[in-house]
Amino acid sequence: MKFFIDTGMVEEIKDAATWGIIDGVTTNPSLIAKTGRTQADVIKEICSIIDGPISAEVIATDTAGMLKEAEEIAKWHDNVVIKLPLTVDGIAACKGLSDLGVKTNVTLCFSPNQALLAAKAGATYISPFIGRLDDNGHDGMALIEEIRTIYDNYGYQTQILAASIRHATHVRDAALVGADVITAPHGVLKTLYKHPLTDNGLEAFLKDHANSQK
Ligand code: G3P
Repeated sequence: MKFFIDTGMVEEIKDAATWGIIDGVTTNPSLIAKTGRTQADVIKEICSIIDGPISAEVIATDTAGMLKEAEEIAKWHDNVVIKLPLTVDGIAACKGLSDLGVKTNVTLCFSPNQALLAAKAGATYISPFIGRLDDNGHDGMALIEEIRTIYDNYGYQTQILAASIRHATHVRDAALVGADVITAPHGVLKTLYKHPLTDNGLEAFLKDHANSQK
């Protein structure tokens, strides 16, 4: 399973890069807005920190506008992945970019049929938003499971990128149902390391070692 960090904050990305387990980065317009910087500045800096897929989202809502924006974004770095919304225009843009060999991440996916459309258009990644479905009384993880089944039924190579991850249980469950990638905020990724028995065990080992040296 690949681990992406979902943030525009370069300090968080620099910190996560030291952990040795980060494969890529996802951003969205809301995350970029929080930085107070331009998307171009943020993405270029992220590309200098992490050597892996870095998703940058288009703002245009029509296919021609998305393709024009994607052409500019793709110039920033070879690792940039063009993030497109799951709309009729977004899927058409995805098909156009896929045919050119440009990597894409189709975002704002909330149904199995939407994921099927993205795969048919050759998307590199599909981003189902687990947390937002849960927030609205649906079962986000069931969506990941259904997409896994559909993609496996037909051999689609589009990678399932579990997004809108809110806690460690989402990560565990996404791994259990076969998501290819998870993208999570810095804070959630840090909680994956934590277990009280690890902390207690380490404390005891260090104490016993120190006592044995006396
Ligand atoms: O980047 C897309 C997604 O991960 C956003 O998550 O927490 O805003 O629903 P959230």
